[in-house]
Amino acid sequence: MAINGIRVSCPPGTTILEAAEQNGIKIPKLCYHPDLKPFGACRLCLIEEKKSGRVMASCVTPVAAKMEVLTDSPRVIRHRKNIVRLMMAEHPESCVVCSKGNRCQLRGIAAEMGLGETGLYPIPNYKSIEQANPFIVRDLSKCILCGKCIRADHELVVAGAIDYNLRGFKSRPATLYDLPLEGSNCTFCGTCVSICPTGALSPKTTGYVGTPEKETLTTCGFCGVGCSILMGVADDRAVEINPSGLNGSVNGATLCVRGHFGHDFLNSGERLTQPMIRGESDLKTVSWDEALDRVASRLLAIKKDYGPQSIGFFGSSKCTNEENYLFQKMARVLFGTNNLDNGESMAERPALQIIDEKSDGRCRINPLANLDKAEVICVLGADPCQSAPVLSYHLKRAAKRGVPLIGIDPRKTDLFPFSTLWLTISPDKDYELINCLSAMVWKKFAHDSNFIERFTEEFGLYSEALSSFNPERLCLASGLDMKSVAYAADLVKGKKISFVVGHGITQQKHGAQSMEAILNLSLMTGSLGFESGGLYVITKENNQVGAWDMGTVPDALPGRTPLGDGSGRGEWERAWDVKISPDQGLNVVRMLEEAEKGNLKALYIMGENPVRSLPQHEWVEAALKHLDFLVVQDILHTETTRVADVVLPGAAFSEKGGSFTNMEGRIACFTQVVPPPGNGKPDWEILDLLGLKMGYPKAYRSLDRIRAEMVRLIPMYAGLKETPGDEWTWIRRTETGKTLRFSPLQTTDEGPMDDDYPLTAILGSQRFHLGGGTRTGNSKRIKDFGLKGEVSLSSKDGARLHVKNGDTVHVQSREGALVREARIDEDLSEGRIFVPTAFHKNDAVNLLGLPGLGHGPPQGLKTCQVRLEKLEVSK
Ligand code: SF4
Ligand code: SF4
Ligand code: SF4
Ligand code: FES
Repeated sequence: MAINGIRVSCPPGTTILEAAEQNGIKIPKLCYHPDLKPFGACRLCLIEEKKSGRVMASCVTPVAAKMEVLTDSPRVIRHRKNIVRLMMAEHPESCVVCSKGNRCQLRGIAAEMGLGETGLYPIPNYKSIEQANPFIVRDLSKCILCGKCIRADHELVVAGAIDYNLRGFKSRPATLYDLPLEGSNCTFCGTCVSICPTGALSPKTTGYVGTPEKETLTTCGFCGVGCSILMGVADDRAVEINPSGLNGSVNGATLCVRGHFGHDFLNSGERLTQPMIRGESDLKTVSWDEALDRVASRLLAIKKDYGPQSIGFFGSSKCTNEENYLFQKMARVLFGTNNLDNGESMAERPALQIIDEKSDGRCRINPLANLDKAEVICVLGADPCQSAPVLSYHLKRAAKRGVPLIGIDPRKTDLFPFSTLWLTISPDKDYELINCLSAMVWKKFAHDSNFIERFTEEFGLYSEALSSFNPERLCLASGLDMKSVAYAADLVKGKKISFVVGHGITQQKHGAQSMEAILNLSLMTGSLGFESGGLYVITKENNQVGAWDMGTVPDALPGRTPLGDGSGRGEWERAWDVKISPDQGLNVVRMLEEAEKGNLKALYIMGENPVRSLPQHEWVEAALKHLDFLVVQDILHTETTRVADVVLPGAAFSEKGGSFTNMEGRIACFTQVVPPPGNGKPDWEILDLLGLKMGYPKAYRSLDRIRAEMVRLIPMYAGLKETPGDEWTWIRRTETGKTLRFSPLQTTDEGPMDDDYPLTAILGSQRFHLGGGTRTGNSKRIKDFGLKGEVSLSSKDGARLHVKNGDTVHVQSREGALVREARIDEDLSEGRIFVPTAFHKNDAVNLLGLPGLGHGPPQGLKTCQVRLEKLEVSK
């Protein structure tokens, strides 16, 4: 075909608009978006067919052989101008103060066409402005009915919150019954806001009104999905976030409420801006030199007096790979200790370690985009709509395309309406259920014998155990019906399974065993190592994977080299020119325990707030106060900085360069967007300065040098560019090609039910918060939304306990208690309650015991036994 006389070739099905763009020919457009189905609403992309003179919308017209079109003929231009004039005539006069400003595509197109005055009688289509919620302002007077917001809501994030309402001149996007957004399914992901070409939808700002001065590419600072974002900057502050929309990014044109709106915590008044040292009682501002001298001299003196094991290092799954690398190196090289941990390793390590050990590296890289090719999806113990929303969009889109989705969870989560089958299991019964499913797969010959033969060993033993397995009995014990399990086996028969595994498995009491059972099932069904199957493990924090890869754990060196591996350790000894202790160090709980006993004298915390994030806040705080010396390097005033001896102000992700490794195995690199507030410094720079003060002979002085050392010494990070930029790369595969082994079946010990605590509390996150809520709790928008974190209980339990919506309840476990408002949840099974974490200083986790501390039976970090009673509150 020919466009403007230029011959072009493209595959069949390509639209004329796409063909033109691929050949550098620009056609104006408003309703077109590459990630949305073509719609043909605005008619701005008109072209003229040369022979027939027909005028048509290029975004919905496919190319045809021998076709000749003109994109800028006088006829086309006349039509286009008329369309834009009509749109402008309907537009209100508030353009001048519109927050979309120069980014309004309608304004841009009008300017390009030289349309100042419309020459038409203005007929502004006034609508009331909705801005009650703290995230999104809807001024639909500026709506041009391009339908992008509705299509983004339906096709990309699959929320179904908005649709067309009314007809003709009155038509506009609206929620069901025209309720405010907060009365709809809206999750405030903001995807519609970013995609809206005009000022009809805009972010509600806090503290800044206007168009950002520049936009810089970076990575979301919250969860393990690691979305690619554009950060809008004005006056050296982050004022707006949008999805980058980059091809191949994990999120495309989408984000979630945290990423889109929660980053206003970066401008919180609680940011640390100056180094501080504790005086008689209070923290006092000091110079960097004074603060670093104090840290260096006290830590070295403690090491000299009490030995290397008297000092601990608690690093962060929120800090960069480069910073974690330096942090653990400081602990091992300068202090000779493996007392190292990071915020997210405690609960999930056993389960994650199993995958590493047993899958031979085949699970390290799993692009979420592969879910587009999934044959069947099994979501286990995960609530991605809350914990990792952008992952949930991939799942919902797959389910909408007809991919069967099996949900296995004690609660019906927001994925329930998208599921083909939902197995509501008792908490702690995941191991049994997965084995039940495997037994059924075996019974129905739904396994992949070809894969088993080629890549695995010990299937004989395993299948023998499965044959003697009694699924009926287990189903009965777990409250499941056999028919559902049999249906699940039918759904997976002949297919590769994409497993999505969440904290309900990895942080559960039997997490490691359940992970072995999942791996067995994935081997049995031939689901490992293919794009249409695999294991997607949700990681809570954005650099949880990287912190482990860098060795900020007590039992592994960088590159996940086990400490016990003499030859691997030897390589690191040669690289660093030190002797590394072969003994596993203390994890954070053990460090605190030793602090309480007086054996651990000093702790250096970088980027974590254990007094809020760990269970048993009072005990954690008391243990920290027992230390001789506590250094806290962080970005916000927290419950933990308040008990520190020295506080060092670090920099948030957008205030420094570095890299994060997400749940897919993607290493996202980023550069500094804004400077840290006040006197804050990038964490790597603080560690580098401190190293020099403590006698480390070589200063890195730049991120490039740290990166170069990592690239040289950690083979799986060899793909990183030595000079940090804003690209991404993938972890290098390290599989050895060895055959994969089935794990033997085990029995799990449930322990007796405690009659004093007859309910099972399930702890979980809500999408507005992450982790303990230190950062999201400092987001003004999220605070203004006014969520209460109600405890949910089933209607049957509500009736039995005389609790109704809005009542105040007291929840008591063996370990702790809390008081919250109650909410009846029809979808919750009898005997279970749901307690959202992060609210009320994250008091929910105080219901739990700390693993291994002798606080009653270890129940993992997701569930515990409780009792609940209604409190009579005088009003
Ligand atoms: S609100 Fe924006 S995106 Fe939605 S239809 Fe109107 S102009 Fe298009
Ligand atoms: S914010 Fe997200 S969920 Fe809400 S209407 Fe827009 S796209 Fe839909
Ligand atoms: S899904 Fe996670 S990484 Fe993506 S925007 Fe939300 S919080 Fe950020
Ligand atoms: S861009 Fe083609 S009709 Fe709107």
